[in-house]
Amino acid sequence: MNKAVKIIGIALGVIVLVLAGAVGYFNLSYPDVDPAPNITVERTPERIARGEYLANYVTVCIDCHSTRDWSKFAGPVMPGTEGKGGEEFNEQIGGVPGSVFSSNITPAGIAGYSDGELLRTFTTGVTRENRALFPIMPYPSYHQLSEEDAYSIVAYIRSLPPIENTVGESKLNFPLNFIVKTIPLKSYTPKPAPDRNNEVEYGRYMATIAACGDCHTPAEKGEPIPGMDFAGGFSFMFPGGVVKSLNITPDEETGIGLWTKEDFVARFKAFADSSSQNIPVEMHEFNTPMSWIMYAGMTDDDLGAIYTYLRTLKPVKNQVEKFTPHQQAAGK
Ligand code: HEC
Ligand code: HEC
Repeated sequence: MNKAVKIIGIALGVIVLVLAGAVGYFNLSYPDVDPAPNITVERTPERIARGEYLANYVTVCIDCHSTRDWSKFAGPVMPGTEGKGGEEFNEQIGGVPGSVFSSNITPAGIAGYSDGELLRTFTTGVTRENRALFPIMPYPSYHQLSEEDAYSIVAYIRSLPPIENTVGESKLNFPLNFIVKTIPLKSYTPKPAPDRNNEVEYGRYMATIAACGDCHTPAEKGEPIPGMDFAGGFSFMFPGGVVKSLNITPDEETGIGLWTKEDFVARFKAFADSSSQNIPVEMHEFNTPMSWIMYAGMTDDDLGAIYTYLRTLKPVKNQVEKFTPHQQAAGK
């Protein structure tokens, strides 16, 4: 009897040791990324201007890393909060199993970072302490940035006014807290700038670094549904109800097939003036996670190129209901 207990005890002990070893090995092996490149990004006025354009209107770093005013349509960024971080994403906001806080990316938050470490963080997905970021931070898209654009973002971020702000600690539920470590990309290979004369390729590049697909491609258990690229239907929980991204494939009935380039550009530019950036919205009313106000700062040419690229996608028939108020959702 005693002997049996002893054997079981030893067996359990061995299992615990093996498990602990496996976890330890896993934690040592992942995230599996190359060391940060040893670079110094020269902060030229051109780079800072290009970085400002990208970070505010295209890659919209400033969108997630600032405080947004949800009492207004499309949640404009509150002036004076640019880059301070602290926005929470959780089960309700962004469908994150856990809670994740956007980091302070002003010089006060990233003081310890070298230029190479900063570049590695937003192009591969690990912090300077080797912590894997949750991919709601769109690093898989930023992995496609051209070298000059990536450097410009570094130059601009470094030039933000520093804001002291301690943000919450990101925590993910099991098993995602382990899985997240396997997602970062091994290394960022500097890429040439896309050919501006090839409008489709250039538009694809802009749509990629703007991560339009992150919201416009529906996902199941965190994986994009095959064949549904840009077909809409990704859900966002808002206080007033469920908001879904729309179909932006060229399907004529359910997508943007009947839109002209002018229609498309005008749809964004409608948010370019200050009156459309201050539309009050009640909690129960329709609001949108899409940063219309930021994207409205894109040039007509860049928006036009995105349109031209979207026209080359496979049309997908997928009718999406953009807003389902809670009362209605509960009544059904
Ligand atoms: C859709 C929202 C979103 C966008 C857009 C976004 N980020 Fe982030 N970012 C986050 C979140 C959330 C985290 C924290 C993730 C975590 O803790 O797992 C983060 C983390 C970071 C960090 C880690 C810093 C640290 O040490 O904690 C850096 C650097 C960063 N982002 C830079 C950028 C840059 C540069 C851009 C634009 C090119 C950008 N982010 C765009 C949401 C976003
Ligand atoms: C944070 C998620 C998110 C991102 C990123 C995003 N969208 Fe959207 N988009 C939505 C949602 C949700 C809607 C539906 C609600 C609305 O109209 O605002 C929408 C609506 C649209 C519409 C209107 C379609 C119609 O039929 O009225 C267009 C066009 C569009 N998005 C294009 C884009 C493009 C191009 C990009 C990238 C530059 C982009 N979106 C990035 C979430 C997003």
